[in-house]
Amino acid sequence: MTELVRTHTDLDADDVLWLQKLLADWQVIADLSFADLVLWLPDRDDRGYWAVAQMRPTTGPTAYVDDLVGAYVPRGRRPLIDSAYTQARVAREGDPEWRDDIPVRVEAIPVRRADRILGVIARNTNLLGVRTPSRLELAYLQSATDLAQMIATGHFPFPGQRSDHADSPRVGDGFLRVDEAGRVTYASPNALSVYRRLGLATDLTGLDLAETTRALVPSHRRPDEETLSAVLGGQAPRDTEIGSDTVVIVRAIPLRPQGEHIGALVLLRDVTDLRRRDRELVTKDATIREIHHRVKNNLQTVAALLRLQARRMDAGSGREALEEAVRRVGSIAIVHETLSQAFDELVDFDDVADRLRLMVAEVGSHGAGVASRRDGSFGTLPAEVATPLAMVLTEVLQNAVEHGFGEAGGAIVVSAQRLVGRLQVVVEDDGHGLPPDFDLDSSASLGLSIVRTLVESELDGQLEMGPRPGGGTRVRLDLPVVRG
Ligand SMILES: Nc1ncnc2c1ncn2[C@@H]1O[C@H](COP(=O)(O)OP(=O)(O)OP(=O)(O)O)[C@@H](O)[C@H]1O
Ligand SMILES: [Mg+2]
Repeated sequence: MTELVRTHTDLDADDVLWLQKLLADWQVIADLSFADLVLWLPDRDDRGYWAVAQMRPTTGPTAYVDDLVGAYVPRGRRPLIDSAYTQARVAREGDPEWRDDIPVRVEAIPVRRADRILGVIARNTNLLGVRTPSRLELAYLQSATDLAQMIATGHFPFPGQRSDHADSPRVGDGFLRVDEAGRVTYASPNALSVYRRLGLATDLTGLDLAETTRALVPSHRRPDEETLSAVLGGQAPRDTEIGSDTVVIVRAIPLRPQGEHIGALVLLRDVTDLRRRDRELVTKDATIREIHHRVKNNLQTVAALLRLQARRMDAGSGREALEEAVRRVGSIAIVHETLSQAFDELVDFDDVADRLRLMVAEVGSHGAGVASRRDGSFGTLPAEVATPLAMVLTEVLQNAVEHGFGEAGGAIVVSAQRLVGRLQVVVEDDGHGLPPDFDLDSSASLGLSIVRTLVESELDGQLEMGPRPGGGTRVRLDLPVVRG
């Protein structure tokens, strides 16, 4: 809408804010009047109107099959819009218009802000859908008329805070009309059944809504007294949440068609199921995090046991093997630790990679100076990629430290690059390089077997090893990453 307003009209920022507030709530008006609403704004030169927004009713058939936003009508083509705009009064037509064989009743409601008319809302009721109106429909239409009047006199939307409640009730969820004293004059069947669930045994009509609610909902399950009487008494344009076993959002729209308070619409929505699902989601997330935390603890216990065992052995290949197992278990623990802190199943892998890099350089270098750094970013990775990748990276880094460098140490660079749907990782060392008879595919030792198996079957990616230009070894990984 703002785009259309900027291109075709001279409305200022406050006007646009007013219109936005109106549009935030006009679903209610479309639903109450079983009608399509189109907002027309006069263009800069006053020669016609632009349709900048449209709302269809959820309570009845639409009068327009096509989208009207962006359409233009010159002055004179729609006399009702002209007269609503120039006379600043709601304009009605006796006979329905026929559009594509559908009888449509058109009304035009001027939109007033302070002493100016900003535009006109055309309200088009598809008469095919309107049968002999029932009490519910009459109550809807009466409230729609009151709201239309408020728009025309500048009393709607309400200045100040706007309802941003994501679960804001709709007309069909439960509709009540209260009089100026806060007594119910009409309750829709859905509204009544919401109050039944709150424990009401009688009819609602004639009751004082705030008082009734106070009697049904224990005091610690309802808002403070002031909010309760403001919202349920229909005095303030606000919403609130009440109840515990049954949770209900209540929203009041005070009616002041001529500026004087004549009562309010009160919309209700039972959100018990929604709230329960929210709670379940929260506990499920917390449980997953807790499990990762425990897996991490268990792995650290395993690593500690292996370390103890290694210390009891004489230096030699057996002891070295145990020390390596400690390291491998430790690198999986790092991933689970990250997962136990992450909000969902996505891991910020830069953090994991940096910790592995430091851990391997520290543990494996036997005092020789190993400098390492990371270039680029891994981004976030799903857990099912992060865990095997952490193991792969550990092995590759370990090899660089173990086989690449002599006493003098050296430098390791880990580079990562995210492309669309892919992750490319390169690990380079500036050490001795691979042995002349090295063959990745036939290498039977454990480290590279782990790497090959994880990269090819678990990660569905590709692995290359070769000399680094300028000396040393370069390992390249190319992995598909769908999520993250
Ligand atoms: N960065 C590297 N620089 C030099 N040689 C390497 C490098 N990476 C691997 N190699 C060679 O490849 C061989 C196989 O590596 P692999 O990791 O499979 O076994 P390992 O490191 O000897 O033992 P482990 O199973 O404990 O990892 C190594 O023995 C080494 O000769
Ligand atoms: Mg190795």
